Order: sequence, then structure tokens, then C-alpha cells
Amino acid sequence: SEQMKIVLIGGGSVGKSCMVSMFIQEKFLEDYDPTIAETYEKTLKVDDIPCKLEIIDTAGQEEYRSVRDKYIKLGEGFLLVFSVISRSSFIESKNLHEAIQRAQKLNHLQVPAVTVANKTDLQEARTVSTEEGKDLAQKYSSTYIETSAKNNVNVREAFEQIVREVRKS
Ligand code: GTP
Ligand code: MG
Repeated sequence: SEQMKIVLIGGGSVGKSCMVSMFIQEKFLEDYDPTIAETYEKTLKVDDIPCKLEIIDTAGQEEYRSVRDKYIKLGEGFLLVFSVISRSSFIESKNLHEAIQRAQKLNHLQVPAVTVANKTDLQEARTVSTEEGKDLAQKYSSTYIETSAKNNVNVREAFEQIVREVRKS
């Protein structure tokens, strides 16, 4: 049956681990515990077809970056996560889109990727607009989704979307 490796990537503290935790365990992690690298498995049905995901949650923090780079080569699909309350994470996601395209250009014409704008529950503190997020996603031929890992908004949908993108590729 179908299997794929999905890599979550993005700046520190944007909510990657919280997305995974909400998706797999329906739990929100209130306390911040920086990731080095973690792998999870989950089988889900997307458009009625089961798919086994190997989910690789990578490090956003600078000191663990060297570990991250090898997953850029291994991934079959990417969730590129930034936080709508962090301009620097938005800028960083551009660099990551470019790093992924460089690393994967021999394998794919287009790298399957979903651009994820997380923490949309924090509307008051928002510094990256929906339009900016959509423009970035379009520039790198990825789809765009806004999530709140805290309120479990669009988290499952983000994973479903990347499965669809990998299937199309
Ligand atoms: P690294 O592992 O260092 O790369 O960070 P990360 O991207 O995995 O971030 P993590 O999921 O650990 O979340 C960082 C902090 O943001 C935690 O305190 C979370 O509780 C909080 N957080 C994550 N997602 C959301 C969200 O959607 N809304 C709000 N309000 N807080 C969130
Ligand atoms: Mg993490």
C-alpha cells in the first residue's frame, strides 16, 4: 500500500511539533520544547485511499540545523511552516523553499510542498498577512493553508493536502 515521507520544516517555535502532536494525538503542547529531530507514523485516508505517512519533525533552532539538512534530501513532500506572528519565520520559509528546490531538483520537476501559516488564532499579534502568505506559496508553486495548531484548525487538512500534492507529482 501507499507510503510517503513527509518533512515538516520551518523556523524555531513556529509550531511544527504542535501540528504533529495535534494531528497524531489531538493534544496541544503549551510548553515549548525545541526539537532536534523526531519521526512519527500515521495512516490516514485521503480521498478514500489509505496512506501511511512517515512524518519527520525537524529542528527550527539554529544549533540543530546540521541534522535538518539531511531530511531536505529525504523528504517526498514538505510542510513549510511559518508563524503569522513572526516576520523572521516568514523570511526564513522563503530560504527553505529555495534550499528544498535546490536539493531536490534532480528528483522532481516540482517539489510537492504546502506552505503553512500557523498561529492564526493570534490575530492581534499578526505581522504576516494572508496575501503575503499566498504570494510566497505561489512563487514556489506550493499550495497555501492557514492553521492554528492550538485550536486544531486546518491541521488535518494540511496533512491531507500534502498527500494529494505528492500523489500528483
Ligand atoms: P522547533 O522544534 O524549535 O523548531 O519549534 P516548533 O516549530 O516545533 O514549535 P512548537 O510546536 O514547539 O511550538 C512553539 C510554541 O508555540 C509552543 O509554546 C506552542 O505552545 C506554541 N504554538 C504552537 N502552535 C501554536 C498555535 O497555533 N497558536 C498559538 N497561540 N501557539 C502555538
Ligand atoms: Mg519542534
